[in-house]
Amino acid sequence: MATLVQPEMRVDPLDVSRADLYRDDTWQAPFARLRGEAPVYRCEHSDYGPYWSVSTYKPIVEVESLPDLYSSEAGGITLADFLPESDVRMPMFIARDRPVHTGQRRTVAPAFTPSEMARMSEDIRRRTAEILDSLPWNTRFDWVDTVSIELTTQMLAILFDFPWEDRRKLTFWSDWAGDIELIKNEDLRKQRLAHMYECGAYFQQLWNSKVGKPQTPDLISMMIHSDAMSHMDHFEFIGNLILLIVGGNDTTRNTMSALAYGLDRFPDARAQLEGDPTLIANATQEIIRWQTPLAHMRRTATRDTELMGQTIREGDKLALWYISANRDESVFGPDADAIRVDRPNARRHLAFGHGIHRCVGARLAEMQIGILLEEMAKRRMRVNVLEEPTRVAACFVHGYRSLPVEISRY
Ligand code: HEM
Repeated sequence: MATLVQPEMRVDPLDVSRADLYRDDTWQAPFARLRGEAPVYRCEHSDYGPYWSVSTYKPIVEVESLPDLYSSEAGGITLADFLPESDVRMPMFIARDRPVHTGQRRTVAPAFTPSEMARMSEDIRRRTAEILDSLPWNTRFDWVDTVSIELTTQMLAILFDFPWEDRRKLTFWSDWAGDIELIKNEDLRKQRLAHMYECGAYFQQLWNSKVGKPQTPDLISMMIHSDAMSHMDHFEFIGNLILLIVGGNDTTRNTMSALAYGLDRFPDARAQLEGDPTLIANATQEIIRWQTPLAHMRRTATRDTELMGQTIREGDKLALWYISANRDESVFGPDADAIRVDRPNARRHLAFGHGIHRCVGARLAEMQIGILLEEMAKRRMRVNVLEEPTRVAACFVHGYRSLPVEISRY
């Protein structure tokens, strides 16, 4: 009689795409093994099919420096493949190669210049202060919903000049758009599609209300008045808007949750920061490094090549694990797993990626996190974590669903 292979026997202990590793916060050990034994490793069996794991700093930088060889467009930017028969076509410039990428990125980049950041900073600071002042002291509440989601949503509403009373729709759409685990379930996939259409219709209205009007500093108006974007079809326009919402949403939100959770886990680092607010800029980088809100981006090889001695074939997919590169001992030292607010090279982290696709919103995210830390310091506000957080079960967005806390004065 033939022996049946039990499904669990096929589980590769080095398959780091498994959602439970992130839900249970147990991803550190398999990545440490990958970095030590096989920094470029082929995983044959996973929910996403075969893929290469690139888990150390150097080869990730190499892959991102060769965008024609390692395409963002050929297979998209997450391990989950796009299914033409059940997904809406929503081209986004994060998943385009040159030359289309160059023109479209150039269109939105002016929204993130230092002068734009200076223009937005007052509004962001005022709104951050308002939220902090509304928090109950010494009383249990959920930091994720009350602070991280609310502040991030407000920041995005300002950026898009989005109707204020509807701003939580941005969070709702973004949560659906960014959840790659949904791809495994046909029903959820359909629901996701319906929400993306709804988002598209809403933004189309917003777009229509701004066409033919003088340019304003928000992103939609900037896109309307640009050459590269004004020729886009409906799906391309919606795709790029969703990119900007999703790009800014989960990432900033989860860094805000990480600053509460991470500083509580490393009380010495927190005491150092509380004693010396000049460390805030560096602490911002360190918290982004430590959290790495997007665990990976994917690339697809456009021809046969070699990476750190491994033969990569045309069409192979590679996961660039920023989450692991940011713990690379050879770059960040033996204490890479810890938060060190004065880490001299915190800024070298790869959480924003590298090369032509490096995060266009990085300055905005850094400013928002820096302002939050500054306003907390002004109020001598300390966040005490009351229970372990509930985490997102996914290998793409790396974050928190809820974090019960109470705040006290130090
Ligand atoms: C690209 C991370 C905040 C918009 C990216 C990439 C990463 C990333 C890893 C891809 C890089 C690559 O493929 O090499 C983050 C993190 C953030 C953050 C960790 C917060 C801590 C934001 C914000 C916005 C934004 C606030 C805008 C509102 C984008 C866009 C791209 C991008 C539009 C595509 C850039 C391109 O393809 O040229 N981000 N992001 N991100 N991000 Fe962010």
